[in-house]
Amino acid sequence: MNNEKIVKKLNQLLAAYQVVYFNTRASHWLIKGENFFELHAKFEEQYNDATEKIDEIAERILTHGGVPLTAASEMVKTSAVKEAKVNGDQAACVKGLLDDLSKLGVIENELAKIADDANDIVTADMMTRFLSEQQKTRWMLSQFLNKKSSVN
Ligand SMILES: [Fe+2]
Repeated sequence: MNNEKIVKKLNQLLAAYQVVYFNTRASHWLIKGENFFELHAKFEEQYNDATEKIDEIAERILTHGGVPLTAASEMVKTSAVKEAKVNGDQAACVKGLLDDLSKLGVIENELAKIADDANDIVTADMMTRFLSEQQKTRWMLSQFLNKKSSVN
């Protein structure tokens, strides 16, 4: 099993997740204000979730016979998610995570389609699971910001 298109897209997702990890960790550290305890914990939950998914994606690449990106510089270059300038403002931190999850969702949707076309139901299923969890998180974060969520 070695589908180059799937491996390439998995690496794009891996890179994006690494940057989401850094961004979320920064928000965990720098968040301030009245909902500090709640958001400090929420960002921790999210970067822990990213850590597990990063490992799962990398091991899926290896299962495909591919090579996962490992260098931080390569990840930052490849990632569709950009490094955030986190200043600790609550709304900005939550909005930043919402935007990052939305960008991950775009890659995951693309990957689900590529995997489906290649009859790789395991990768497609993985993407469905990731998307399902993220859509729920995005709904919750949108509620926090008192905004309507939009899913993809
Ligand atoms: Fe901590």
